Amino acid sequence: MTPPVTLRVVRPGTPQASASQDAAHSDFARDMLAALASRPRSISPKYFYDAAGSAYFDAICELPEYYPTRTEVAILRSNAAAIASHIGPHAELLEFGAGSLHKVRLLLDAMDRPAGFVPIDISGEHLTQAAHALAQAYPGLLVQPLVADYTQQLVLPEPSAAGKRVGFFPGSTIGNFNHDEALAFLRMACHALRGGALLLGADLVKDPAILHAAYNDAQGVTAAFNLNLLTRANRELQADFDVSKFFHSAFYNAPLRRIEMHLVSRCWQQVHVCGQHFEFEEGQSLHTESSYKFTMASMRALAQQAGFEPGQVWTDSQQRFSLHWLMAPR
Ligand code: AVI
Repeated sequence: MTPPVTLRVVRPGTPQASASQDAAHSDFARDMLAALASRPRSISPKYFYDAAGSAYFDAICELPEYYPTRTEVAILRSNAAAIASHIGPHAELLEFGAGSLHKVRLLLDAMDRPAGFVPIDISGEHLTQAAHALAQAYPGLLVQPLVADYTQQLVLPEPSAAGKRVGFFPGSTIGNFNHDEALAFLRMACHALRGGALLLGADLVKDPAILHAAYNDAQGVTAAFNLNLLTRANRELQADFDVSKFFHSAFYNAPLRRIEMHLVSRCWQQVHVCGQHFEFEEGQSLHTESSYKFTMASMRALAQQAGFEPGQVWTDSQQRFSLHWLMAPR
């Protein structure tokens, strides 16, 4: 018999969800056209995540070179009891950018009578499936998926729990924001979580060789993930990128403490996007992602600037990755 499922679908599957999908497409068109018209050319990494891009990212997380996922999971596993006692009983968890919802299970398993879970993601279809699977595994937990862009101001359901409202933002996705975006996100989260806290995963500055390998894997999965952006543009923006005429480039920019990913043109070429014409010189690139790395102190300082009171930090023995407990004053 299937266990009873407590799942209140807040928005996926409604006309709002398809409207937001349309908006995502036109945002992509607008941002791609703006990127191609500007110098240097740069576009938000959020456009990586169509269905193929999300599958590539899941594969990246399993790669031997890509240490962040496995390191963060190990930190969560070894400190689950301590983290759960910070969270306290009857808490409501909110996950920003919830993907496959694997990591949150480690928290839910250790928590004292978790009351609710609000996974928030822009991709409604993926979110509904993952939330449904989670609700089945945790009968009695009120799961309220919310289809929303968490980089914008969020309208959250009223807190449903007697305990704290605690945000979870794992994976060092914060590192894919520039400084102003990270600060804006943290300010929004601090407001949304007031009286509670945020558990934030942040990748740490380390030997550039380890970073380089993580974004230049031997199997070429990261390259395929990066190049898929052009395939997506061909499909959704009536573009005619010849994907074979671009290559993946990823390097550590030490002064800026970030990995940069680019798509570099192998030759002079012309492309068309949404009926507009652009040229690429040989070696000219489209900057597709920055992945900032932090020190524990720089992450704490940023959180403090956004209004949080930084608390405990959990890390691994090699200090590759960090999990921060950030309290949001009432
Ligand atoms: C999602 N994000 C934290 C990943 C990162 O490491 O910046 C995305 C990624 N890009 C290339 N590999 C993984």
